Amino acid sequence: SFSSSASLNAVKTVTVVGGGLMGSGIAQVAAQAGQNVTIIDINSELLEKAQKSIQINLTRVGKKLYKGDEAKIASFVKESAERIRVSTKLEDGADVDLIVEAIVEKLDVKQELFNKLDVLSPPRTIFATNTSCISVNAIGAGIQRKDRYGGLHFFNPVPVMKLLEVIKCDSTSEETYQTMMEWGKSVGKTCITCKDTPGFVVNRLLGPYSAEAIRMLERGDATKEDIDIGMKLGAGLPMGPFELADYTGLDTNRLAQQALYSMTKNEVFAPIELLEKMVAEGKYGIKSGEGDASAEDIDIAMKL
Ligand code: NAI
Repeated sequence: SFSSSASLNAVKTVTVVGGGLMGSGIAQVAAQAGQNVTIIDINSELLEKAQKSIQINLTRVGKKLYKGDEAKIASFVKESAERIRVSTKLEDGADVDLIVEAIVEKLDVKQELFNKLDVLSPPRTIFATNTSCISVNAIGAGIQRKDRYGGLHFFNPVPVMKLLEVIKCDSTSEETYQTMMEWGKSVGKTCITCKDTPGFVVNRLLGPYSAEAIRMLERGDATKEDIDIGMKLGAGLPMGPFELADYTGLDTNRLAQQALYSMTKNEVFAPIELLEKMVAEGKYGIKSGEGDASAEDIDIAMKL
């Protein structure tokens, strides 16, 4: 409808639980958009780290937005950073319009968190999980407000990647769904919608592609360099499959494939010997100082 319901429901206060890689990015884009943000993490050192990395990333964004205007850059960074507060106490983040969960990828830990929040938060608060590999329905199984719950799946790095997958569970109300879509737009993302289906849209399709690239290399069909060049120049992708795997981490890649395999039983997601071996040897890609993609290549590809 064209009623004022969208503005009535506009999210003004957000809590992000988990201040790691994803949570700090989600907090940043919300603060940039003028919202008041609380980051909750059990680890106070991580909260300090998150604040530092947000400061650096805000400066990057500010430089891009206000080219050369040092005063404007400084006030953008200061004002955005001032909208973010951090705490190790869940209670400090419970009374808000929206809570986005980005903690460790473990079902029981996520369930426990939402069950606690369900008691602490007022009825209006919408809950969302940023899970990649766990069923959104399963994570929210113990909460009462199932109509005010869904998935908000961001991509790494959050301030750069333009997509947000909005996961609509069977019990997510239309109003909650609309509020989540509006909020995604307000933090600068293009939203797509999908059901609570394994891998959602992007990872479900990226998985088989990435797996087959590794199998091609394993079979000796082509070198990894040629496969990367092939997919960049022939398919118009910003990075080849091996550059992408180096960037996201081979360990993460393997976990995603494992999760998809267990959820779908589809053999395209079955373990690959080469990937198993490399992960066992601690060869994760960029994060373990390996891989072909230099930080500079990645900055260019990601248009940072
Ligand atoms: P991370 O390990 O960087 O951060 C997780 C943070 O959660 C840590 O700071 C940890 O101290 C905190 N934490 C753990 N248990 C907690 C609890 N009970 N209460 C409060 N804080 C707690 O992990 P990352 O990569 O940011 O992932 C977070 C979530 O986002 C996971 O569910 C993951 O599947 C999902 N995700 C990850 C993507 C990625 O590319 N890394 C992409 C999209 C989603």
